[in-house]
Amino acid sequence: MNDINDINVTAKDIYSQAPLREPERQLYFIERCREFVLKIRPEGKPLMLVNTFGCQMNAHDSEKLKGMLFEMGYGEAKGESEADFIIYNTCCVRENAENKVYGNLGQLKHLKREKKRLKIALCGCMMQQETVIATIKEKYSYVDLVFGTHNLYKLPELLFAAFISDEPVYEIKTKHGEIVENLPSVRNFKYKASVNIMYGCDNFCSYCIVPYVRGRERSRKPEDILNEIKGLVKDGVKEVCLLGQNVNSYGKGLSERVSFGKLLRMVNDVEGLERIRFMTSHPKDLSDELIFAMRDCEKVCKHIHLPFQAGNDEILRKMNRHYTKEQYIALTERLKANVPGVAITTDIMVGFPGEYDVDDTVDIIKRVRFSGAFTFIYSKRVGTPAAKMDNMPEEGLVKENFNRVLEVLNPIIAEINAEKRGKTYKVLAEGISGHDKSLLTGRLEDNTLIHFKGNTDSIGNTVSVKVTDSKTFYLLGEQEEI
Ligand code: 5AD
Ligand code: SF4
Repeated sequence: MNDINDINVTAKDIYSQAPLREPERQLYFIERCREFVLKIRPEGKPLMLVNTFGCQMNAHDSEKLKGMLFEMGYGEAKGESEADFIIYNTCCVRENAENKVYGNLGQLKHLKREKKRLKIALCGCMMQQETVIATIKEKYSYVDLVFGTHNLYKLPELLFAAFISDEPVYEIKTKHGEIVENLPSVRNFKYKASVNIMYGCDNFCSYCIVPYVRGRERSRKPEDILNEIKGLVKDGVKEVCLLGQNVNSYGKGLSERVSFGKLLRMVNDVEGLERIRFMTSHPKDLSDELIFAMRDCEKVCKHIHLPFQAGNDEILRKMNRHYTKEQYIALTERLKANVPGVAITTDIMVGFPGEYDVDDTVDIIKRVRFSGAFTFIYSKRVGTPAAKMDNMPEEGLVKENFNRVLEVLNPIIAEINAEKRGKTYKVLAEGISGHDKSLLTGRLEDNTLIHFKGNTDSIGNTVSVKVTDSKTFYLLGEQEEI
């Protein structure tokens, strides 16, 4: 059998011939990696597995990692045991996300022992923390390649280095570099796609590690965003989700300042595109300009994800959120008044230092009536200002408060869904439902999930669906004859 270590590489020549500009340099290393990859498994295509932890931003980054790996000649493995290359794209926003990575990684040790040619890589947010790197070097020394969020685009060059080296390759950058455009990518879904509009976050909410691991805010140029979307539409995409940690501050630092509201109007003009979503919005930056763009642009879905985190003004101040409870509620009222039928979803955190009750959080939930929410228990992140705050509420109390939030929140979500029974909505049919193979699945404009009886020929199209039943987190329905 061919061992990749036996391949005679003139690495020096390869590096000296590498273009200095991006993306040309990575495209060059994709080709150089391919020469290795094609020899890994004499019996056929070698297989890779990208395991993603965390948010939509990471899920989208993984699409880019996969795109580059496919170009190198890898196929996709169904499970870790058959893979020749495993990469974990990690998340560090809460401790349990990190623990999952360590748990999974521990299990890879046996696999690596059994299969010498297996390469293991770690990347993403967790890798931007020094303590994590020290732990990996000490306890998981069998990992071959480690890189962070600022050099994700360099996977080809770094994997090449891992192929030619017997030592593990670590490249962690503390500062972000350029935004690299036009590298290969794939899509997890055929008819909808995520599009980064900006990277990083400048808000420094006191509990959040994101600004430290994803760096300062930088926006992509509108023309790059529009070109990408036009390309996606040509490829059959009907719905895009514009991604950023805080999309409302889009445009800062661009030579020609374009606001997020303006960008939405530009995307709305892309022919053939049917739906536009975006996330996440910070309440402090949500301008009337954006509200009016949501009102005016027919393709922009009438849904906004607007995390409020906590209801109490003192807690909000300690979180560095820059709004009060009443300001948040007033903002949602302005949204509802201008964008009829708008659905508002949110993130809620329970158990922040000093938060002994959730009365104000419950008050916001009752007054705003969210149609969905991600709920979290506060997790201390070393390096953030909140990690140094005392007055941590006891675990038992936090659990009690968390349950109280769910007890108020879930019935409201169920009620909002129940109000849809008997009505007909436009649904983008995304595919066969994983819930029940005889049904199709899709989303209403307001982002509610629906499983419905429908014609498989409709997949990829926007169809009219009558809601026949509702559950707390999804609807059931039937496609209407046209
Ligand atoms: N603990 C718990 N939840 C957190 N989030 C961010 N940081 C933390 C933390 N330290 C939540 C916030 C944010 C979402 C993406 O994750 O609610 O909106
Ligand atoms: Fe974290 Fe706040 Fe930035 Fe969101 S806006 S990523 S919660 S610092």
